[in-house]
Amino acid sequence: MSYFYYKKDELFCENVSLNRLAREIGTPFYVYSYKTVLENLKKIKKAFSPLNPLVCYSLKANTNLTICKILALQGAGADVVSGGELYQALKAGFSPEKIVYSGVGKTPQEIEFALKKQILFLNVESEEEFFVVSKIAKKLDLKAPISFRINPDVDSQTHRYVTTAKKENKFGISLIQAERLYQRAFESEHVEIRGIHMHIGSQILSLEPYLKALSKIIQLIDKLQSRGIKIQFLDIGGGFGIKYQEEEKEFPLESFSESLISMVPSQIRLILEPGRYIVGSAGALITELLYRKKEHTDKFFIVDAGMNDLIRPSLYGAYHRIVPLKRKIPSQEDSVNIVGPVCESGDFFAHNRKIPSLNQQDLLAILDAGAYGFSMSSNYNGRTRPPEVLVKEEHWWLIREREDYLDLMRKQRIPVDFSLYGKKLDDAYFPLEFWKMEGSGNDFIIVDNRGKIIQDGGELARKVCQRKKNIGADGLILIEKANKADFIMRIFNPDGSEAEMCGNGARCAAFFAYKKRIAGKECSIQTLAGKIQAKIRENKVKVKMREPSGLRKNITLEINGKNYSGFHVNTGVPHFVIFWEPIDGAPVKEVGPKIRFHQMFLPHGTNVDFVEIKDQRVIIRTYERGVEDETLACGTGAVASALVSHLTHKIPPPVRVKMRGGEVSIWFNFEEEKFSDVYLEGEVNLVYTGYLNGGWRYV
Ligand code: LLP
Repeated sequence: MSYFYYKKDELFCENVSLNRLAREIGTPFYVYSYKTVLENLKKIKKAFSPLNPLVCYSLKANTNLTICKILALQGAGADVVSGGELYQALKAGFSPEKIVYSGVGKTPQEIEFALKKQILFLNVESEEEFFVVSKIAKKLDLKAPISFRINPDVDSQTHRYVTTAKKENKFGISLIQAERLYQRAFESEHVEIRGIHMHIGSQILSLEPYLKALSKIIQLIDKLQSRGIKIQFLDIGGGFGIKYQEEEKEFPLESFSESLISMVPSQIRLILEPGRYIVGSAGALITELLYRKKEHTDKFFIVDAGMNDLIRPSLYGAYHRIVPLKRKIPSQEDSVNIVGPVCESGDFFAHNRKIPSLNQQDLLAILDAGAYGFSMSSNYNGRTRPPEVLVKEEHWWLIREREDYLDLMRKQRIPVDFSLYGKKLDDAYFPLEFWKMEGSGNDFIIVDNRGKIIQDGGELARKVCQRKKNIGADGLILIEKANKADFIMRIFNPDGSEAEMCGNGARCAAFFAYKKRIAGKECSIQTLAGKIQAKIRENKVKVKMREPSGLRKNITLEINGKNYSGFHVNTGVPHFVIFWEPIDGAPVKEVGPKIRFHQMFLPHGTNVDFVEIKDQRVIIRTYERGVEDETLACGTGAVASALVSHLTHKIPPPVRVKMRGGEVSIWFNFEEEKFSDVYLEGEVNLVYTGYLNGGWRYV
């Protein structure tokens, strides 16, 4: 039974009227039935139950996170084809030991990502890929779990674009090559053979091609096993066809399973990678009829969904049933071309389709669009991609929002020095992306300014750093191109002045640059105070600090008749370090300013750090010069306090320093009474990303 059905001539998905949904959401939109997804998965599990296979849902059919999560919660594994899909699969909750990864063009970065995440195995598709996998495994000092994807040279009798196992197709390794490569892998220290893989195509409706391919693969397994090469998994891919047309038959799961029982050696675990079978019939694309017209002999129904939303008819000539949301009397039928608004004659959903005659604004459902629908959609023709809705019984949820026009411009830049026939494009309007980051209690707005879009950072900082009126931050950081470093960091204070350097800012900048692929995990940053080095480890960033100078021990200051003694050191900026117990009672606001302006440190003044040592940890509170107040954190103050604590209490590096805004570790060398190689390490956090005010003009 289908969960898309008519109740009193109205089309429902489970217990939700699609007309009602369309009124609330607008068209076009995708709608998925929860129960259909579950039942399709159950049908597979039931048919193959004697073989107890691992069902790895093929994400490419539909990568919606909620759909993936539903399947992950059912214990399914995942089949992925890219780093992006692997990332989404992990985020959706598929466990790595149930993830397999095929694809003819995995990049070294993608391979490394998969190996680090410890997925079940990579399906290697060429000898050169095998070499790259081995090399990366060696570098990571692990054994890469692999299988080879075999191209058994069979015709899966489906559309030629989705036939993947003929010798002229780009996929997999031929049987002849396979033996040799398995032997090589067997002898390699850097890979572990887990299995053997095939995927012969998609929307396959008969058993025959599977059985042909499998008999070849089983022969290969026998040969390999006889040489002592153990195969634990037989992954036979996906491809099970569904019924797009009334008169079609579904793929015969039960008889396939029966044949497999006698073919698959008992000690080998079977893996299936169905995509379409699970989600295809669970989705529909709902669209509105905009206009009808008759030109020459042809009648056109122009709907508001296009090939950018569902490309299958255009790309494969695929058939999808199309039904009205309000059932009409079938006697009044038209033969029409149902087409979209895209500027291509290939933009159609059906040709010469018999459909009850419809009026403008009537709604239609394009059925069986749950697989390779949204996942193949695009923004072609400046079209925003449609929302996705999940229905379960009488409940529904928007599981992806409709895109808006700003989404069409995301990530784009118009370079400011670009001119057209001598005219500067100074009125161009575009979305300016920023990251709001935090490091040990300092927060920053970071913008990639390599395209020099922002010319006056000070002006922008004055605007965006304002708390309550704008984003609010301790500073604006612009990342710019550098000649002799990985990038330049420019940092602007909320008052618009440009600061020389900021340790916490530099740590956030390094993280941003790494995530944006501007620099690697180890990078050099050009600042107004010189070049600094940074290293990233997970969400921790370590920056090399300036060598300390001007150390003066045991200075006693007299303030209002009382003596205060401490150490003075310059760690980029001057700091006076004074021990105080308990730290909570330290007179930061009372004595702090007196020391800061004490005549001993004039004309420049000094920062003041009150320090307590508890359980080998240094706890500090800092009065900051310039801010003229206690701040949540201060990188140079943390360094000064750690160095002094090492001198006075022999606390060994890395010294953990706790500030009100967070904890950092200070690393250094101390030899012959001299400090060198001073590093500050601490967490940074990406708080959120956004776009400035919907758009931004050049500043
Ligand atoms: N495993 C591998 C390695 C695959 O390449 C595919 C699909 C699957 C599993 C899942 O196949 P399924 O069970 O969904 O048939 N865009 C086309 C289909 C392309 C299939 C690509 N590979 C369409 O809309 O018909």
